[in-house]
Amino acid sequence: MSKGIYIKTFGCQMNVYDSQRMADVLKPQGFTATELPDGAELILVNTCHIREKAAEKLFSELGRYRQIKDERAELGQKTLIAVAGCVAQAEGEEILRRAPFVDIVVGPQSYHRLPEMVNRLGLDRQKTVGPQIDLDFAPDAKFDELPANEANGPSAFLSIQEGCDKFCTFCVVPYTRGAEYSRPLADVLREAKGLAAGGVREITLLGQNVNAYHGDAAGRAANFAELIRRVAEINGIERIRYTTSHPIDMDDDLIAAHGEVSQLMPFLHLPVQSGSDSMLARMNRHHKIDLYRAIVAKLLRARPDLKLSTDFIVGFPGETEEEFQATLSFAREIGFIQAYSFKYSARPGTPAAILPSQITEAVKSERLAALQGILEANQRAFNEECVGRVMPVLFDRPGRHPGQMIGRSPYMQPVHALVPEDSFGQILDVRIAAAHTVSLGGELATPVAHAIATATQGEASV
Ligand code: SAH
Ligand code: SF4
Ligand code: F3S
Repeated sequence: MSKGIYIKTFGCQMNVYDSQRMADVLKPQGFTATELPDGAELILVNTCHIREKAAEKLFSELGRYRQIKDERAELGQKTLIAVAGCVAQAEGEEILRRAPFVDIVVGPQSYHRLPEMVNRLGLDRQKTVGPQIDLDFAPDAKFDELPANEANGPSAFLSIQEGCDKFCTFCVVPYTRGAEYSRPLADVLREAKGLAAGGVREITLLGQNVNAYHGDAAGRAANFAELIRRVAEINGIERIRYTTSHPIDMDDDLIAAHGEVSQLMPFLHLPVQSGSDSMLARMNRHHKIDLYRAIVAKLLRARPDLKLSTDFIVGFPGETEEEFQATLSFAREIGFIQAYSFKYSARPGTPAAILPSQITEAVKSERLAALQGILEANQRAFNEECVGRVMPVLFDRPGRHPGQMIGRSPYMQPVHALVPEDSFGQILDVRIAAAHTVSLGGELATPVAHAIATATQGEASV
């Protein structure tokens, strides 16, 4: 019998990947994804612990699901509620205390055991087993036991590395995801080939620090540059991206790959967090701002059209006006074309949370607004620079208007264009005609008949 599973995902792309994999691992038990939680036999929340706001969302979500569970119980139907992800890992027991109606708490490294947990609980109302909790760290076992990752559209995520050994003083990830673990090269390539065979043309390699990759390759360790080169050899893979990376692991081999591997997109997310050396030291980022500058210069020598995006934190404990100004001027200097900026959020168990001189909410808000002003201007300026250019766009979503589709430029900008109906999954050249705040509009640069012919040829070679 088919059973409904509703999955709500918070957090980073790795959680998006994990949610997909949790659905895959439960498929053999007859679970199929539903759009709404109402009526689902299993409701699963995949959580994020990175900032306080993110973690608090869990409990408001759970309140809603409890209502659904109660309503279904009145109709004689059983609902299982599962909490997965980084809040589960960090606060497992606490979740069961605050929300005793939760049936399953499963960490990011043990979700391959979800089927057993669901089995033990059963969907039969007579069965009354206590809540199931599994917070083991076993990433190797997890990847070995997951079923094949099936293609689902032209773009796919692929986790190659998990966990983190860097211990930035603000960050919970080393505690929620555990130590750095790299999947063996052969496993990654098998998954990438399977995705390509299923029609995937763009792969985003995922990890908390992908460029710390050191996966086993027949007894020796392959580095990240080697992995990229091997993925690029796979027939059908036309675009490669990766996220997230750390400046200190940006080695020369990887920088060279940016110049040599044509499928590697000229857009790199390289978090900097702050533009001030004293702040970077207190954050335990292991580098000074000059190193970041030097990396950008080398990357641009290797790949002159490369653009960067980044992450910033404002209001880290003790942040002086001078340190903050250094961040503003660094944002102006590099001209990131996209950036995520956050107010520092004290996370339990991290060293920075207990530092004296926490910054007030009011100062944090003021600083965030000032920084975002610069970041938005940079983004707009780049979008405007794109007008008149011809950009290859991978179309993967219907647009708002008839005949319109939305795709992604090499720089991840959403691009709207009128395209032939069968353009889904195709990479077509678009002449950019208009720049909006976050997206672009344009028209096909090649006559449609030619575009279709090239697209069909492309497909035949897959
Ligand atoms: N591994 C990546 C980032 C992972 S977390 C790296 O090394 O940069 C994603 C982003 O969340 C971080 O880059 C940081 O900007 C932000 N972040 C992490 N912890 C935070 C905290 N306690 N408060 C505010 N932002 C935080
Ligand atoms: Fe967190 Fe730092 Fe590790 Fe990134 S490198 S996941 S910010 S501890
Ligand atoms: Fe959040 Fe965990 Fe990702 S804390 S950002 S879901 S690694």
